[in-house]
Amino acid sequence: MNTPTPTANGRTGAALPDIPAASVPAGLPDADTLTRLANAFFSTLPGAAAPHDGASAVGGLPSAWPAAAPVLPAMSNAAPAGSPLAGPGGTGTGVPGASLPAGRVPGGNLLPAAPTHVLTLGNRAPALAPHAAAQNGLPDNMVTIAPALEPRVGGAALGVPPLNAHVPSSAAAAKGAKSITSPIAARDTSAGQPSPYYFVGTPEQGWQRPAQDVAVPADAGATPQSFGLPGEDDLRSMLSIHRFSTSAEPYRHEQSAAPYFLDNAHATRDPRGAGPAMPVARPPFDVNAIRRDFPILQERVNGKQLVWFDNAATTQKPQAVIDRLAYFYAHENSNIHRAAHALAGRATDAYENARSIAQRFIGAASPDEIVFVRGATEAINLIAKTWGASNVGEGDEIIVSHLEHHANIVPWQQLAAQTGAKLRVIPVDDSGQVLLDEYRKLLSARTKIVSVTQVSNALGTVVPVGEIVELAHRAGAKALVDGAQSVSHMRVDVQALDADFFVFSGHKIFGPTGIGVVYGKRAILDDMPPWQGGGNMIADVTFERTVFQPPPNRFEAGTGNIADAVGLGAALEYVERIGIENIARYEHDLLAYATSRLVPVPGVRLIGTARDKASVLSFVLKGYETEEVGRALNEEGIAVRSGHHCAQPILRRFGLEATVRPSLAFYNTCDEVDAMVSVIRRLSARSG
Ligand code: ALA
Repeated sequence: MNTPTPTANGRTGAALPDIPAASVPAGLPDADTLTRLANAFFSTLPGAAAPHDGASAVGGLPSAWPAAAPVLPAMSNAAPAGSPLAGPGGTGTGVPGASLPAGRVPGGNLLPAAPTHVLTLGNRAPALAPHAAAQNGLPDNMVTIAPALEPRVGGAALGVPPLNAHVPSSAAAAKGAKSITSPIAARDTSAGQPSPYYFVGTPEQGWQRPAQDVAVPADAGATPQSFGLPGEDDLRSMLSIHRFSTSAEPYRHEQSAAPYFLDNAHATRDPRGAGPAMPVARPPFDVNAIRRDFPILQERVNGKQLVWFDNAATTQKPQAVIDRLAYFYAHENSNIHRAAHALAGRATDAYENARSIAQRFIGAASPDEIVFVRGATEAINLIAKTWGASNVGEGDEIIVSHLEHHANIVPWQQLAAQTGAKLRVIPVDDSGQVLLDEYRKLLSARTKIVSVTQVSNALGTVVPVGEIVELAHRAGAKALVDGAQSVSHMRVDVQALDADFFVFSGHKIFGPTGIGVVYGKRAILDDMPPWQGGGNMIADVTFERTVFQPPPNRFEAGTGNIADAVGLGAALEYVERIGIENIARYEHDLLAYATSRLVPVPGVRLIGTARDKASVLSFVLKGYETEEVGRALNEEGIAVRSGHHCAQPILRRFGLEATVRPSLAFYNTCDEVDAMVSVIRRLSARSG
């Protein structure tokens, strides 16, 4: 048993076991060799010319350093064949006037060659990082992770001191720059300072060179330009997508010209100058441009390019979200609402900005109607345990539909068990659509709340929630709409819907896991008691009584998931940039195509055939367990969910315990559908 040992922060922790030398896999270099290689690599300034070429180096640096970084062999084109990343390039910058010496600058091995379209370049480095084939015998990550050109400007990977990201360049310029000893060289003499470089264990190897005079801003916030490297603005324009801001302003995404449409003229005003915008010819939706925003789509599984058809379980994240999270932790991380220091201000601004984005995204009247929670499950639990506990009593009724996810059944069951209320269920027809006439019959003065999903996670049925909410209100009941499966596929306007509550999860809309939203009408939230007590949700505490904050803070006790709320904001902005109507149209066509290809396969039974469906194709295949189908697809790199999808009642309505469930998103393609259907056809043919 491990003995608890005090750690640096005074807490106790389990002692780490020694890693035996034998655990280094055969054929790989040992830790000492890796450390030596890494030290040698980082010991030469980026941009310094290699001794043998004699060319004068950039930024006034000498053309040869005593210790040269190992020169990585040139790579031809590391992008997998057929990948959108495999531009016409090969190697080279592809950007006029930006000639970085490939192979001599950390990350140079990842640079594409001219002429590469700048949009392709923008996504290449980060997307390649996990895939670039090692050319020097080292494991991939040894080559690609540390020296990648992607967002490491000023960080350890470029071998320059961290950039002071919140000093605007104009402010730095105003203060003036003076020539001081390079912090890199100065490090030689500042014994005992911690190294900013992950791998440096033996400084004398990398730092045996004379101090150099390098111009840095007077506040010592060295910039990449100090070393003759492209500045942040240069990189940003080279990369074409927003990465790291050096502004003291709160982080803002650039509303870049949408690259997703080949033709932006998709709507026009009524020529008489009155009335709403009239749709004209539909702009082509460039799914390949979209796909380049999602680095994970270049992942290979079982030797095949990943096909992600498990979007109803969770969606993949665009680079904009990944970057936003990294930016938060690099420049803004702090607890919120509770301090006078700068980072508390940045973190609070970022978090509250995300709340405003969520408000705008679902059409709420005020950011105060947006409560951050862990996800849709926690959201429904919050409502059941606060509003429910104070508004539902013995003999009252709660209505859900037969389609519900367990998260919209169990909390109400628990409430019913505690209060003596009854759970009533709206039945569905054989297509998987709710029966509105049966619903009408269930409504009565006893109905306190109707809680229904907008899109079924198991069948894909789009439920007529507008009518359901209206009928609930006519009966004097409140209405909750579970938007976990809808917000990423269709426009949601909670005010138009008149829902009292609306909930969704961030991870199903291209945001992080562990963050979600409760929307509640302000007047209803005002009347709701808190459900958890602690910091952040109080106005005043004595031992006699506590005064609570108004919503939304009243429902956000403790330190919340700040960074992921910010990441969710970035995800929602990303969806806004593409346009939810464009997404809905593309997905509608893709679902129609997939249905037309899947249904004729002998032995396939589609479960869920409602006229209005979104994203989901649930099916069973004669002669196969659902897991067998899932495994066969996985062998081809195709990810689907097989099982009960946390919706056992609706599957049992169709006599099943499990289905195979491909679920689509706007980054999926007809080619991917074809790949999936060909596997299913093969299985079908085999079972006869
Ligand atoms: N609710 C998620 C799904 O449908 C987990 O897969």
